[in-house]
Amino acid sequence: MKKIAELISGRVSQAFEAAGFDPAYGKVTVSNRPDLCEYQCNGAMPAAKVYHRAPIQIAQAVAAQLEGEAMFSMVSAVNPGFLNFNLSPAWLRDYVAEMGRSDRFGLEAEANPRTIVIDYGGPNVAKPLHVGHLRSAIIGESLKRIDRYFGNQVIGDIHMGDWGLQMGLIIEEVHERQPDLPYFDPDFTGDYPAEAPFTISELEEIYPCASGKSKVDEDFARRAHDATYKLQQGDRGYRAIWDHIMRISVADLKKNYDNLSVSFDAWLGESDAQPYIPAMLEDMKAQGITTESEGALVIDVQEETDTKEVPPCILVKSDGATLYATTDLATLIQRMQDFHPGKVLYITDKRQALHFEQVFRAARKAKIVPAETELQHLGFGTMNGKDGKPFKTRQGGVMRLEVLIGEVTDYVRRKITENQVVAAEEVEDTARRIAMAALKYGDLSNQPTKDYVFDLERFAAFEGNTGPYILYTIVRIKSILSKYQGQVSSDKLLPPETKEAKDLMLALTGFADALQQAYQDNAPNDICGYIYSLAGAANKFYHETRILAEPDQEKQAGYVALMDLTRQVLETCIDLLGFEAPERM
Ligand code: ARG
Repeated sequence: MKKIAELISGRVSQAFEAAGFDPAYGKVTVSNRPDLCEYQCNGAMPAAKVYHRAPIQIAQAVAAQLEGEAMFSMVSAVNPGFLNFNLSPAWLRDYVAEMGRSDRFGLEAEANPRTIVIDYGGPNVAKPLHVGHLRSAIIGESLKRIDRYFGNQVIGDIHMGDWGLQMGLIIEEVHERQPDLPYFDPDFTGDYPAEAPFTISELEEIYPCASGKSKVDEDFARRAHDATYKLQQGDRGYRAIWDHIMRISVADLKKNYDNLSVSFDAWLGESDAQPYIPAMLEDMKAQGITTESEGALVIDVQEETDTKEVPPCILVKSDGATLYATTDLATLIQRMQDFHPGKVLYITDKRQALHFEQVFRAARKAKIVPAETELQHLGFGTMNGKDGKPFKTRQGGVMRLEVLIGEVTDYVRRKITENQVVAAEEVEDTARRIAMAALKYGDLSNQPTKDYVFDLERFAAFEGNTGPYILYTIVRIKSILSKYQGQVSSDKLLPPETKEAKDLMLALTGFADALQQAYQDNAPNDICGYIYSLAGAANKFYHETRILAEPDQEKQAGYVALMDLTRQVLETCIDLLGFEAPERM
């Protein structure tokens, strides 16, 4: 289905042409003076310079061509040369009804769908998830859903940090605490126990303890390094402990991401890329693109057009260790081989921008990815506390994700319990849905690159530009629909008779534009902005219209159809943002 602005522009362009002017001047946009008109065209102004005529004359000539046009209820040329338009209620009704009948409300899918790998989440195994990982998960989940909605094949890959020094630290700490375990006995040749020698809560305590110790105890730090090396060399016992750590951590991560309604298609990690590294390094050397610098193996990635210095991408350090970039390059080899993506999108903190610039350049230089595969990094800003500094607990520590989610849910639960509209057995599920909406909308309504302030009271408010406000609007509509006996269909829509009904239809027509923007720019905030104004129009309509008390059945069916289409669009949009509405709140 064509976008509404395209249809209107098409018609106005014809009128420009018929009046003897270049049709390119006929571009129409949503009015920036909604008090005067719904759509406007400013083309007569630039045309005036070319045709040496007064802009108002041109506008009048164009308006004359549109006389009697069924699309408009009003066409007027106003000084100095604007063209103002209002849509005819019947034409608008037909457009909206067509939206209701079409797949994706008439939104055109991607003409050239691709396989897209989205790398998000990025938790570090055995380290607790913190709010830094929250943004990656929330933004990544939403972009995955948006890209899919447009018809692309999307693979969400969690890319766990499961291979670095943190693993050595944990193993060495376990070694110290339980030196008699068979994993540490080099002469042990039997089967290792199936049970892990620790629980998830022990693991979560072990890592910070070991990490703290390594900072003050040099000998421990050295042993943790050795343990990391042994693991990476494939030591049988160390590998067996690592398997335990992974199994327990992945189960816990799955639970955490499930609670967030965030899911992944591939649960791969840094460890899965390691097998590709030796051949990759050999190949890079054979291509002659690597150099040795102070004992390290690097790829130069500086380009002539650079205005800033881009340091070389380090592949192997002088002590033989490989790095974050090495793993990311090897991961690209694995992804090209297994998924053949047309695009790989990484979602991390924007402080990793240089890392990805280096990796992307090295990947091109080493011909790991073909020219037609797009590599993109979306760097997001920081979630701050009200003091403007990165979000912390009240005690000043790192805020764990579960604790944060727990706090938001508690706050919302208290609120809905006070309101007493939710039945006792629904409280838990409702609180969870509202909490997700508060948290996710609070994040996604900002441009991803911007920092934002986490403000629980504001995010969880039922009024204003918040997730719960959107849910509240949906719940309200659902309540009307549940009381309506007749059959609901957008074929029953009627030409709008009131300003509120027309404004709501106009708001609905903005769907395709908002989604296109969100898709093109990796900007879920465009969807948030759209549903905020749609919800506003829906609430105004609801306030000004007797719906269930309307005696005229045809009118009533038309109102109900309008409410229901609004609900469908709102629910589709929040699904793309990654949350869902309850039945009551
Ligand atoms: N584990 C990393 C971190 O916590 C994020 C990983 C992002 N993805 C990647 N392919 N480098 O910062």
